[in-house]
Amino acid sequence: MANIFRRKTVDGILKEAAQGYGDGHGAGMNKVLGVRDLTFMGIAAIVGAGIFSTIGKASFDGGPGIILLFLFVSVACGFSALCYAEFASMVPVSGSAYTYSYVAFGEVIAWIIGWDLLMEYAIGNIAVAISWSDYFTTLLNGFGIHIPDYLTMDYWTAKAQASPEAKLAWLNAPSLGSLKIICDLPAFLITVIITWIIYVGIKESKRSTNAMVILKMVIIFVVLVAGAFYVQPANWTPFLPNGIGGVLAGTSAVFFSYIGFDAISTTAEECRNPQRDLPKAMFNSLIICTIVYVLIALVLTGMVSYKELNLGDPLAFVFKAMHNQYADYIAGVVAVSAVIATASVLLVFQLGQPRIWMSMSRDGLLPPIFSRVHPKYKTPSFSTILTGLIVGIPALFLNLQVVVDLTSVGTLFAFVLVCGGIIRLQQQRKKALHLHGADVITEHGEQELVPESKFKTPYINGKWIVPLMFALAVFLFIKYYPGGLEGFFNFKDAKGIVTWQVIREKVPYLLFGLVFAGTAVMSFIGSYSLVPVLGFLCCSYLLCESGTSNWERFLIWLVVGLSIYFAYGVKRSKLAGETE
Ligand code: ALA
Repeated sequence: MANIFRRKTVDGILKEAAQGYGDGHGAGMNKVLGVRDLTFMGIAAIVGAGIFSTIGKASFDGGPGIILLFLFVSVACGFSALCYAEFASMVPVSGSAYTYSYVAFGEVIAWIIGWDLLMEYAIGNIAVAISWSDYFTTLLNGFGIHIPDYLTMDYWTAKAQASPEAKLAWLNAPSLGSLKIICDLPAFLITVIITWIIYVGIKESKRSTNAMVILKMVIIFVVLVAGAFYVQPANWTPFLPNGIGGVLAGTSAVFFSYIGFDAISTTAEECRNPQRDLPKAMFNSLIICTIVYVLIALVLTGMVSYKELNLGDPLAFVFKAMHNQYADYIAGVVAVSAVIATASVLLVFQLGQPRIWMSMSRDGLLPPIFSRVHPKYKTPSFSTILTGLIVGIPALFLNLQVVVDLTSVGTLFAFVLVCGGIIRLQQQRKKALHLHGADVITEHGEQELVPESKFKTPYINGKWIVPLMFALAVFLFIKYYPGGLEGFFNFKDAKGIVTWQVIREKVPYLLFGLVFAGTAVMSFIGSYSLVPVLGFLCCSYLLCESGTSNWERFLIWLVVGLSIYFAYGVKRSKLAGETE
């Protein structure tokens, strides 16, 4: 019986990365990225479809108080960024959270994360490509160029006929037998172009990213300053028109807008000094983006009433709503900026996915072709093209909302495991010091080094703080949840009948309560470090706010992934012979 929890040592991983993998390929990636490039890449990955599109509906639901959610999510991401940074400095190879989990938890969890990251990068990019196409077609319309509507949206959006464009698309679409030909052609084409840039080299990707980031940040700055003149503070009251519940309804959308700072860790093997530069770049990009986001949210909800923001292009809309001679002009500038911003997100995510596959393939969990590096361009050639197809083809047909939600759930799950991984390694280190008086532990009867990193999350003892936080959370919950504990455990619907539907909606909260209680007990016993625990808890909470149906889709995704692991990877893993 294979040991599916077999772990890799950091030393082994670093040796492999330095020497090349198996047939020798992989060692030769170009090391050209510095802290500035990585910061730019972080901003490139973060500022995109989220802040230009999904913020509209989130502001409509939450009102001006949506900035509280932006701040909370930023703090949650900050804790996770510290954990990512510690791992990235400990294991500076391209696999990101996949490789980190291999070190912390063992192979099967690493596979789960690798499979899960496909959701963040590839599925996330489908969302970004669709959003890019929306802004691009709006922009072309502004110049009087009109692509037929049936070539700019997915079949289901057209069929629903909820907008004039959708109605036209449904009406005018050519048919093949009884099937109407409706697809999002620009979304496919931008994916092809970006895939080509990534295929031909990391230097080209770096140059394109830097240029796009400078342009989009300058435009955003101009838009912010212009918008500030139109702000009417009266629009900020009421601050929480739909209570905290309204604000939390935007969780997936707001979290989606922060995804991306972690993506730069996949370029670790192309960095000049990853251990120093990756942590710095993650924080730089996260801090810059938080400031920009909070300002954008303030300007947006200050220019018009939150009630008007339930649309896909809120930033362009608020300027049009000002009805002055410059309004259309600024709205056009916003559209240009959105097109650039979303293209840069596409580029970084399209870059990340093949590098994770490359790492999984080197470990034997995917076929060798996934880690083939192009002799001339030095990029993972097969994986890059496959990513292009996996993103580009569904982008022709899929609907935006579903892919945004799935991306957020998948990414939060990865963040939870990365924070959990740091807690686990810290505990192992403590245990080893206690047992041996040195930094070693014994597992499976062998001696292993407990991985060390140059960058460490600051240690604050959570022994008392975490249980106190739990007690406070329970107190607040009982005080403010309608009907208190009794209200929560009442599973009856409006007709007074206990239904699965009501239970189903409460399951995530119940699980979160159990996880929080367990973490409080473990923190007390093991004096857990506060920072990773807070990252773990905040991201678990955001996961629980992501909606039960998204959890269900995510679980189906994991079951499919695990079936592939047991059918292929478990037998072919490079570690297969070592620990059975
Ligand atoms: N944060 C990225 C975006 O908003 C995924 O497009």
